[in-house]
Amino acid sequence: MPPGCRLLDLGCGAGRTTIPLARQNYLVTGTDISLPMVHRGKSQAQQWRVPATWSVLDGTDLPFADNTFDGVLFSYNGIELVPGIAGKQQVLSEIWRVLEPGGHFIFTTHAIEALNRYAFGRLKRLASFFFSQILKRDKLESEVGEVIHGPERNLEVYYMQIVSPRIYRTLLQDTGFDLVYYNSRRRIDAQKPPGGRWIDFDPDFKFYVAQKTPKNSNKP
Ligand SMILES: C[S@@+](CC[C@H](N)C(=O)[O-])C[C@H]1O[C@@H](n2cnc3c(N)ncnc32)[C@H](O)[C@@H]1O
Repeated sequence: MPPGCRLLDLGCGAGRTTIPLARQNYLVTGTDISLPMVHRGKSQAQQWRVPATWSVLDGTDLPFADNTFDGVLFSYNGIELVPGIAGKQQVLSEIWRVLEPGGHFIFTTHAIEALNRYAFGRLKRLASFFFSQILKRDKLESEVGEVIHGPERNLEVYYMQIVSPRIYRTLLQDTGFDLVYYNSRRRIDAQKPPGGRWIDFDPDFKFYVAQKTPKNSNKP
């Protein structure tokens, strides 16, 4: 995307991506559901005299008009913090709405099938989830892939949902996006091109670039 484009950095946290993008002359709006995070980002940007707009909002209900942005970013697996598949679908619909036709949405996720050191833990959680469903036991997780840790487990995850990239591909398609690029961080670091569906099993994060169908496209 050329400098001067209007970018929405959704789930911007403390501005890790917002500030460098603003420095590269993009017109960036940094937004997050967390007020302290937005405050932190804004004060760092002011300190370094980087021009960016900031607001606190929920990605499931964006206060922007249709076609406001040329690009949207939900970086570092932020979409996995949105509760439930329906919540994720709602975020994608909102992003699609605020994007210009032809605009891009870039995001990353984990994968439930990733073959890495967390695979055994994920398998155990899946088994316990399915047993609790069969035995009709109460469990905090109501959907596959949800992770909810309290402080008692000494790990700062209160909610995250790790599902298969297949689900994101379906959600994107249902929303009206074309997935124009899909690769893993490891492959990107090694300068390898996208390598098909086997990437789902790659141990590392997945990167997606989705495009809202351009105006002049022949697609319905
Ligand atoms: C893993 S952090 C990533 C922060 C930042 N993008 C980065 O790369 O450093 C995910 C961020 O998404 C935000 N977030 C979670 N749910 C959100 C929602 N529904 N709407 C907007 N932001 C949300 C969190 O508050 C958190 O700051």
